[in-house]
Amino acid sequence: MTQTFYTLDDLRRWREIAPTPDPPARLAVIGDPIAHSRSPQMMNAALAARAIHAQYIRVQVPPGSVKKALQLFAQHGFMGVNCTIPHKFEAMEAMDEVDPLAAQLGAVNTVRIHDGKLSGYNSDGPGFVRSVEDAFGKSVRDLRVLILGAGGGAGSAVAAQCALEQCRGLVLVNRTPSKAELLAVECRGLSAPARVTVCRWDDAALSEVIDQTDLIVNATPLGMKKGDALLFDPALLRVSHLVFDMVYRNGAETPLIIAAKAMGARTCDGLTLLLHQGVVSFAHWFGEPVPLEAMRAGLKNSNQSIFNK
Ligand SMILES: NC(=O)c1ccc[n+]([C@@H]2O[C@H](COP(=O)([O-])OP(=O)(O)OC[C@H]3O[C@@H](n4cnc5c(N)ncnc54)[C@H](OP(=O)(O)O)[C@@H]3O)[C@@H](O)[C@H]2O)c1
Repeated sequence: MTQTFYTLDDLRRWREIAPTPDPPARLAVIGDPIAHSRSPQMMNAALAARAIHAQYIRVQVPPGSVKKALQLFAQHGFMGVNCTIPHKFEAMEAMDEVDPLAAQLGAVNTVRIHDGKLSGYNSDGPGFVRSVEDAFGKSVRDLRVLILGAGGGAGSAVAAQCALEQCRGLVLVNRTPSKAELLAVECRGLSAPARVTVCRWDDAALSEVIDQTDLIVNATPLGMKKGDALLFDPALLRVSHLVFDMVYRNGAETPLIIAAKAMGARTCDGLTLLLHQGVVSFAHWFGEPVPLEAMRAGLKNSNQSIFNK
């Protein structure tokens, strides 16, 4: 069976691993789990398009080991790392320096390694804005946005980015309401305070606000697995809604996207976000130009890996 990801133990004995990847591994995505990630197909297409002799791999890193993993990447000559669920907060703690946007968003998902030093960035917020423009032809600042999962790494980054963009309205919804309340305080500091509200997560409360919403965002992992609960009663959806599901599932649409399409609403899936946050990450590592269309094609064809691991 082809191994689809490396582990922290592999990183510890990296120099003994044979055969070493060719092109050499210089970039990675870490997460737990990580086998499902389609970032390698997208990033390896970009590296090929820019004729950069390097490979992007997946590495499964358990919580609590992010700093160790990043030290090992630096020792082994890696240039950059993406951090996905659940590592974005832990990664922030391991940085030597954090750029102002990542500091404001409170999470790091892009690490640049230079002379052994770790610099942290966040591409979720800017990638989200670019995705909304790509999928809907709209600017976030013209929209009233409702975010489910406004308490996790991605939801917090997107909420803060919407506030920074001065979006028309921001409703924060989270399973643990205290986290949404804390995030609301932060977002009110970045935007007109009256535009930011918190809503309880139940259908009755959502029905009070959803008709005054343009863009509905799922920033929870619900929908990743077959049989996951629905986020809310799909009868609350309107044809005028723009529905953005940050989740992507290999080979299948999420229940939210299926329900939104059935209602006639316009949708944007997690692969579009993966693409645009990948573009922002790539620019942090290699500068412009970023081969957007090669990355898009890499993702589209990503049922078949470009490289084996
Ligand atoms: N497409 C992309 O490029 C992209 C980029 C970033 C993230 N994502 C996706 O976005 C999702 C969230 O990622 P993350 O990094 O923000 O994760 P995270 O930091 O672990 O946050 C998870 C969020 O979802 C909520 N949640 C978890 N399980 C839930 C459940 N069963 N019911 C209701 N709410 C639940 C959590 O609420 P509590 O606060 O109550 O725990 C929290 O707000 C993941 O599926 C990830 O794959 C996709």
